[in-house]
Amino acid sequence: MAKILVATDKPFAAIAVKGIREVVEGAGDELILLEKYGEKAKLLEAVKDVDAIIIRSDVIDAEVLDAAKQLKIVVRAGAGYDNVDLAAATAHNVCVMNTPGQNSNAVAELAFGMMVMAVRNFYNGTSGTELKGKKLGIHAYGNVGRNVARIAKGFGMEIYAFDAFCPASAIEADGVKPVASPEELYATCDIVSLHIPATAETKNSINYALVGKMPKGGLLVNTARKEVINEAELIKLMEERADLKYVTDIMPVANEEFAAKFAGRYFSTPKKMGAQTAEANINAGIAAAKQIEGFLKEGCEKFRVNK
Ligand code: 3PG
Repeated sequence: MAKILVATDKPFAAIAVKGIREVVEGAGDELILLEKYGEKAKLLEAVKDVDAIIIRSDVIDAEVLDAAKQLKIVVRAGAGYDNVDLAAATAHNVCVMNTPGQNSNAVAELAFGMMVMAVRNFYNGTSGTELKGKKLGIHAYGNVGRNVARIAKGFGMEIYAFDAFCPASAIEADGVKPVASPEELYATCDIVSLHIPATAETKNSINYALVGKMPKGGLLVNTARKEVINEAELIKLMEERADLKYVTDIMPVANEEFAAKFAGRYFSTPKKMGAQTAEANINAGIAAAKQIEGFLKEGCEKFRVNK
């Protein structure tokens, strides 16, 4: 009987945990639940004798991997796996997977929730603007970006996208206009929605020069990662340009400075909310449990992200 730990500092909805339990126990394995653990010490204790771990944004680094002597697989129930040290996992002979696409509609819907809030002046009673007819730039056309495009059509927006890896023809096939560079996307669009992962190449890449290309009244929406923003440069730019707005689902390190300096044109959720829906938790959590069972019982490595 394998021991499968769900280690979620930000817990799944109870109904998703129930679904995960059904998959795990239905396969004859044991589910261990560690929620809202706060301190890393509790995670280190919990991983000691488990075969598999399901996580969200929980950090799995070399120390955790050292402590998890029986560990064979970690599944990030979600898209971004920048919270897992892939090289250390490979060195420990641990398979790492994600569950791509399972929570992407939830994130895309939140991007629109934040967009509407920002263009309506954070509901302060003054006249804002509408999304209809505005140019929306989708920065990275993956699972979330595609859902953003689908919803933007309903709003009647003019949709553009840049993706370094997705062919222009695939973007065009969705009725979205591909652009050749991030610079072109930001220069073209009234609103840019970020959907890039945090990698060595993308960290700090959303900077003064790039966001500075946005037209008057530009709005930057971040439901991706805080690390991709060059916070010091964005602050400098927003100081110089009182027309720009920034809304984010990932609280910046400099949240207090943003909030103090840019009242009325800056907002951050207190805790990352993009994937916080029952549907996304059920989809990603159950997919993670099934992937673990497929790996442990049949050696299936689909969705493996470390080599
Ligand atoms: C993801 O990468 O899947 C999203 O950012 C959601 O992260 P979360 O599970 O920590 O909410």
